Amino acid sequence: MCGIVGYIGDEEATGIIVEGLRRLEYRGYDSAGVAVVRDGKTTIRRAVGKLKNLDKVLLEQPVHGTLGIGHTRWATHGRPSEQNAHPHEVDGITVVHNGIIENYLQLRQNLVEQGRTFKSETDTEIMAHLVAVETNKGTDLITAVKKALAQVRGAYAFLIQSEKEPDKLITAKNASPIVIGYGEGRNYVASDIPALLEHTRKFCFLKDGQMAVITREGVKITTEDGEPVEAAIRVVDWSPVMAEKGGHKHFMHKEIFEQPSAIADTIRGRVRMEDAQVHLDGMSLGDVTKLNRLIIAACGTSYHAGLVGKFMIEGIARIPVEVDLAGEFRYRSPVIDEATGVLAISQSGETADTLAAIKEAKTLGATVFAVCNVIESSIARECMESGGVMYTHAGPEIGVASTKAFTTQLVALYLLAVYLGRARGTLEKARAQELLTHLREVPQQIERVLSQEAALITIARRYHKARDFLYLGRGPNYPIALEGALKLKEISYIHAEGYSAGEMKHGPIALIDEHLPTVGIATQGPFYEKTVSNLEEVKARDGKLIIIATEGDSKIAATADDVVLVPANDPLIDPILTVVPMQLIAYHIADLNGTDVDQPRNLAKSVTVE
Ligand code: M6R
Repeated sequence: MCGIVGYIGDEEATGIIVEGLRRLEYRGYDSAGVAVVRDGKTTIRRAVGKLKNLDKVLLEQPVHGTLGIGHTRWATHGRPSEQNAHPHEVDGITVVHNGIIENYLQLRQNLVEQGRTFKSETDTEIMAHLVAVETNKGTDLITAVKKALAQVRGAYAFLIQSEKEPDKLITAKNASPIVIGYGEGRNYVASDIPALLEHTRKFCFLKDGQMAVITREGVKITTEDGEPVEAAIRVVDWSPVMAEKGGHKHFMHKEIFEQPSAIADTIRGRVRMEDAQVHLDGMSLGDVTKLNRLIIAACGTSYHAGLVGKFMIEGIARIPVEVDLAGEFRYRSPVIDEATGVLAISQSGETADTLAAIKEAKTLGATVFAVCNVIESSIARECMESGGVMYTHAGPEIGVASTKAFTTQLVALYLLAVYLGRARGTLEKARAQELLTHLREVPQQIERVLSQEAALITIARRYHKARDFLYLGRGPNYPIALEGALKLKEISYIHAEGYSAGEMKHGPIALIDEHLPTVGIATQGPFYEKTVSNLEEVKARDGKLIIIATEGDSKIAATADDVVLVPANDPLIDPILTVVPMQLIAYHIADLNGTDVDQPRNLAKSVTVE
């Protein structure tokens, strides 16, 4: 989830680009760079870390020119370093990129066989080579870019310039955002509106499969095959603060709505359907048939992901899994040997309890590995020398309440389960293909859940004054009941408890009366009937019932006061869908109660103390 800015006009490009990048820093911040073309020569400045480091470099070594591109990076391929920072230049062609090139290994190998050498570990540099191969033969830049795009598979927003043709910028998009800003005698490109709001209010969002040639005089949009496309120009009246949140009121709301693309990014490049294999880049688990047990250690929402992961890994790969609160793990003298794998789950990669847990596990001889969202974070580095890291590609999560990090963790755990199942021979090819097909349906199914926001707001209005809430679920949806309760507690300050629906009769049933709203998850699957009869027990005591059920369930309305329907999917994937209404209910209750949703009291985004 990197940030891109480009400028072509008659003013100095660097200041405009760097200011634009500053407004996109929320998209990534492990390195940044600019490339400016002047007098047929490209000059690049790059720096690791936040944008202020690039500011320093530019102060010491300024660059001048009226055509340029810039980038702020959230690393996917290649660790954060100056070499891996964008822009990447090859033979006068400079490229910045947001996304993941899926077939990069194959393309890189082809280019190496042609005698090309690489300066970075990124997938992006491949695009610069592919274009340069063509322009070196005398092909014009537009045709060269089209030929390169025809070879690339994956998600991309590219912005490209050439020192031989300094009268244009070229951009192309598939699954990563690009917006073009229109000026007078100057034009702009960026991955998001905030970068350009200071200069223009006229924008055109490029669609997937489209490219644009941007000159000082105008913008020409076509498909990647060259078919002309009429630009749909939109005038935006957002304030800069609104723009940073993409028009959403809070980062949390924006991040809830980013889940379809974050999940697609987490799956992208990892699934090979032909032989039903999952490719775990960055992991070196060795011979997984020797693993006889897994322990998952995590905190908060990541712990809830671990609880769902237990169902996935045990169900698909048949490896026994224990899930530990990371803060408890090392104080219980855990029994660990070399056949034990310890998996840390952490969005930030900086949670002190989780870090301490894997350090302890490593000392005891376990293979440690992580599902993590932040590249090169402390937990990621700790695992690199052992079993490696599987990165979720959720992009930076700013809201303190974790949303897209959670659903991408679930996706990563599901992929891990399929990988382990295939490698250990517990999962047949045909079944694995079915599971992976179901997983690929999730982004679009989440869109369907998100489209019910209006109904969820009505529910939030009805119950936002309640003092307590109960959340109930069973099986893989029991951790979602815990997560729903945690979301509500942390942002609305309303007391909420998550329980296994079957456990309710052993205690919490005493709390139920007409003032207590209960959110129950009763989706189709092995736990449906039992859960419904548990929820009937709530209804019989006059409790208010909000039930999350599966589309097509016509009977459930008789039990519930409110019903929210989610699409049908594999029971182990179901939690990735059922948590979304939980997030939106918590969000809207908190918003109606006027709490500080993105920075709730007493909480920090990453808890770096024990
Ligand atoms: O960065 P981590 O995933 O390790 O963080 C773990 C918890 O601190 C975190 O999930 C916390 O519970 C969130 N506020 C939940 O929304």
